[in-house]
Amino acid sequence: MASWIEKCEQIWRAEGSGGLGRRIARHLGGMLWQTNAADWYRVDLTAIGAPDAAAAPDDADIVLDATEQAIEWMRSLKERFSYAYVEPEVAAARNCGHVYALARIEGQPAGYIKIGFDRVYVGDLHRLITLPAGTAFVYDTFVHPSFRGRRLAPRLVAAAKQCALQHGCRSLWCHIPRWNVPSIRSFLSQGFEVRDYVRNFRVLRWRFSTRNVERLLAQG
Ligand SMILES: CC(C)(COP(=O)(O)OP(=O)(O)OC[C@H]1O[C@@H](n2cnc3c(N)ncnc32)[C@H](O)[C@@H]1OP(=O)(O)O)[C@@H](O)C(=O)NCCC(=O)NCCS
Repeated sequence: MASWIEKCEQIWRAEGSGGLGRRIARHLGGMLWQTNAADWYRVDLTAIGAPDAAAAPDDADIVLDATEQAIEWMRSLKERFSYAYVEPEVAAARNCGHVYALARIEGQPAGYIKIGFDRVYVGDLHRLITLPAGTAFVYDTFVHPSFRGRRLAPRLVAAAKQCALQHGCRSLWCHIPRWNVPSIRSFLSQGFEVRDYVRNFRVLRWRFSTRNVERLLAQG
């Protein structure tokens, strides 16, 4: 309680009563109503041949199945990038044998990709979804700001495709909000195509989506 009052006081000093009022209104609005949206993409793995150029190593190496090492790194990133380490994601990853691949430059972690099988926690939906047989799902891709712009992400995506193929999957999915151009381009360059657009809502405690995502995944 004390820290909440202190925070309000800090905002009031910095932004005045108008600023504080706007912040409180936004916070209360967020408790009543939230929405997010993304395009859902799929790539057909049966059409993949040998690893393409994006997967070829140069100064970075991609380590598949570095799950525990990646989790440790994600935990260290959490304060700055809250989406990197999400408890229910990690719990599902461990229970269902997900693969976290790491991109490393000079031995140091530079990026990761999370490849899910069986059951995956989807943050936009705030719940676990069950994947159909033969389907894998990339639920987060990250490149540290120091290494962005070097096309590490397309290489991580290429590695995820190989990984899903090795796990006997025929298709790999992901979902990306429309504002995230670097991410969209990374997946498009690896053959992903948009299958549908899904918007999710939370009104008070009631959640709903414009599309049943389990049905979407099953349709392919
Ligand atoms: C998204 C992300 C993983 C991309 O990683 P990256 O290795 O730096 O990707 P790059 O910028 O090298 O290249 C990806 C593509 O996006 C393009 N791109 C990058 N920034 C761009 C921008 N601002 N506008 C348009 N295109 C852009 C690049 O040209 C490249 O496309 P191309 O190969 O067709 O030329 C990275 O920005 C990131 O970690 N972001 C924060 C986490 C995140 O948003 N994850 C995705 C969740 S859906």
